[in-house]
Amino acid sequence: MSQDINKLREMYRTFNKSCFILGASGETGKVLLQEVLKSQLFSKVTLIGRRKLTFEDAMYENVIQEVVDFDKLDDYASAFQGHDVGFCCLGTTRGKAGVEGFIRVDYDYVLKSAQLAKAGGCTHFNLQSSKGADKSSTMLYPKIKGQVEAAVEELNFDRYSIFRPGMLMCDRQESRPMEWMARKVLVPVAYMFPTAITIPVLVVAKAMLNNVVLPSEKKVELFHNKGVHELGELGETKEK
Ligand SMILES: NC(=O)c1ccc[n+]([C@@H]2O[C@H](COP(=O)([O-])OP(=O)(O)OC[C@H]3O[C@@H](n4cnc5c(N)ncnc54)[C@H](OP(=O)(O)O)[C@@H]3O)[C@@H](O)[C@H]2O)c1
Repeated sequence: MSQDINKLREMYRTFNKSCFILGASGETGKVLLQEVLKSQLFSKVTLIGRRKLTFEDAMYENVIQEVVDFDKLDDYASAFQGHDVGFCCLGTTRGKAGVEGFIRVDYDYVLKSAQLAKAGGCTHFNLQSSKGADKSSTMLYPKIKGQVEAAVEELNFDRYSIFRPGMLMCDRQESRPMEWMARKVLVPVAYMFPTAITIPVLVVAKAMLNNVVLPSEKKVELFHNKGVHELGELGETKEK
């Protein structure tokens, strides 16, 4: 499989595709950006975010940054134009933003971005959603995640890939005590049952990038936590 994926990557590079990333300052987004640059799969990489990011490594020198006001995204439609592939790793928490703020970011901003991306020519939209997403749920988080998945599906992208990772394992910069505690408790679970409820952010990022080069006959693809692990580990040799 490693040979196949390498061949697919080589072929993909010849297509000169461009991509944008939403949420590149976040835990998954920043790792995804590193992987995107290392992979050299795209001839143009644009970050769309609410603030300009600073990078020291020369690897980032050709990255384009579009700083937008997410409450007035229509005014920034041009930022989304001319990208073949979109990666969305946007998100906040109810604890940080309150109920309304959470819905605004995780539903309104995501959907509006997807609409502008579609209008701007994006053919493959990748959404980082979450394990348990369910538009019929009575709980806010899974309901909003499920609702936004469904609303983006209605935009009818040529290809739409939904990733539903479990608890993200990372060394989070922002203080989220409950999440920190959950991660600590889940360390032994992650060791014993790595694909059950946790996933390292690097695996999510690699999964998105491996998937992008894999041909798909499905217009809509949905990857649960185990599937994200499998995709992210494609072509990697397992340690004995
Ligand atoms: N935490 C978990 O264990 C977990 C599990 C499964 C799925 N997920 C989902 O996976 C996705 C990525 O999660 P993550 O933990 O990697 O992300 P994260 O570290 O929380 O980063 C979120 C990104 O969204 C941006 N953002 C947040 N609020 C914003 C606002 N009001 N306006 C504009 N941009 C805003 C942030 O920009 P700034 O840097 O400017 O704030 C950042 O780039 C989210 O949708 C999350 O719900 C999380």
